[in-house]
Amino acid sequence: MTQQALFIIFGGTGDLAYRKLYPSLFRLYEKGYLKDNFAVIGTARRPWTDDHYHEVVMNAVADDGHESDRTNSELARKFASHFYYQSHNVNDTEHYVALRNLADKLDEKYDLQGNRIYYLAMAPRFFGTIAAHLKSEKLITDHGYNRLIIEKPFGRDLKTAKELNDDISAAFSEDQIYRIDHYLGKEAIQSIAALRFGNQIVSSLWNKEHIDNIQITLAESLGVEERAGYYETAGALRDMVQNHILQIISLLTMEKPSKYTASELRDRKVEALQNIKVYSKEEALQNFVRGQYGEDADHTQSDYRHEEGTDEQSQIETFVSGKLETENKTLAGVPIYVRTGKRLARKSTQISVVFKNVDTNIFDSTDADSNLLDQNVLTLYIEPDQGYRLDLNVKDGGQTYGIMPIHLDYHKTAAEKAKIPEAYEKLIHDVLDGNRTNFAHWHEVAQAWRIVDVIREAWDSEKADFPNYVSGSMGPQASQDLLKRDHRNWIFDATN
Ligand code: BG6
Repeated sequence: MTQQALFIIFGGTGDLAYRKLYPSLFRLYEKGYLKDNFAVIGTARRPWTDDHYHEVVMNAVADDGHESDRTNSELARKFASHFYYQSHNVNDTEHYVALRNLADKLDEKYDLQGNRIYYLAMAPRFFGTIAAHLKSEKLITDHGYNRLIIEKPFGRDLKTAKELNDDISAAFSEDQIYRIDHYLGKEAIQSIAALRFGNQIVSSLWNKEHIDNIQITLAESLGVEERAGYYETAGALRDMVQNHILQIISLLTMEKPSKYTASELRDRKVEALQNIKVYSKEEALQNFVRGQYGEDADHTQSDYRHEEGTDEQSQIETFVSGKLETENKTLAGVPIYVRTGKRLARKSTQISVVFKNVDTNIFDSTDADSNLLDQNVLTLYIEPDQGYRLDLNVKDGGQTYGIMPIHLDYHKTAAEKAKIPEAYEKLIHDVLDGNRTNFAHWHEVAQAWRIVDVIREAWDSEKADFPNYVSGSMGPQASQDLLKRDHRNWIFDATN
């Protein structure tokens, strides 16, 4: 369905707009979701002209595209002609008046029916001011919809998140706010619900009677790159665990929604997060491990403390691993091991659900010590591979009745993956549709901070012995020990 809307992008000259927003809007345009009745106002401090802005937008489309001739293509040019640039100081009331005049003009020109999407793609410290001005200077229309998209970080702890939420809630109601967590736009993350609730063999085994443990790995091979300024104030716990990992956990541990609708899903996810045990300080220290990367084994890559913009004594973690637990009835007591870090062996996001051993092994085992068969494992490949793997035990093909492990593997082909809309494209499409299924509700964000704040406080009270892992490894030894202590191992390591 074709949509009518005006986008106002704060941070229009920024990296996110260039790399994600303009290409995503172009893809929606290519596919016909956006046609003649849309316009985009980009705002930022820089004094750009509309012509320059059009060039930038066309370059963004070309840089992203599989088709190299997009810069000059007629379609990209037509698309860019819907973009308008307005130089803007977020603290200056006069600028909002100018913005409103332009918005009203474009509304009429493109017949946008008063529908407005405000995208805050800039530092969160400006969110409150912008929201307040949008209201006081009457940019918010009364004859169409008004939706606010916010990027993370949503606060740096529960207290600041609450302040931020209060600020934006003074101008927008909860159902007008779309908090982006780009992991929720990923196809493979959205597929978790289909796997869990669309398959009897999965749903009937998804409980503490059958699941031994769950493992979530979000490994990155890149280092901090040019983002040291932000990262030094965040660290891996705030950057990845508070949002992406806890959102994944909510999808893995929530009870079955009665219907796959935004409100049902959100209620189940909020409950799921409220059921995650909030640790005491001592428990946090026992169950969470932090790390910071050192040089690689060949001394060719610098350690975190010598990256551009970092503090030479930095106490910021680039790696986190830990054990969480839910207190819900179905999965109570099942350990959920999580792990994320920069400069690890390779980029890989995967989730493994490890099932319990069969009660009795009636077969002769090759392993005289344990007489145990391998555990069944259901793995979800999220990225860069997308697919599933199921580890099973079968007869080994020999004269006697030996057992051997095999795995069933399904990977999406490159051609299939290429057809899947990119996370931002999906999420912007959802905003146009008014579908809040894949956005975080305030209650989810708040609960996630409660879980994470204790860990942060526990760590901040002790000095870390950094660096403590080699770039290109899978993190510090303590991360392996965390599972060894429970007589378990990480399913995914640097070699598989
Ligand atoms: C972002 C973090 O939210 O997610 C980055 O701020 C991280 O530090 C990125 O690199 C990882 O996302 P993806 O989609 O590449 O796994």
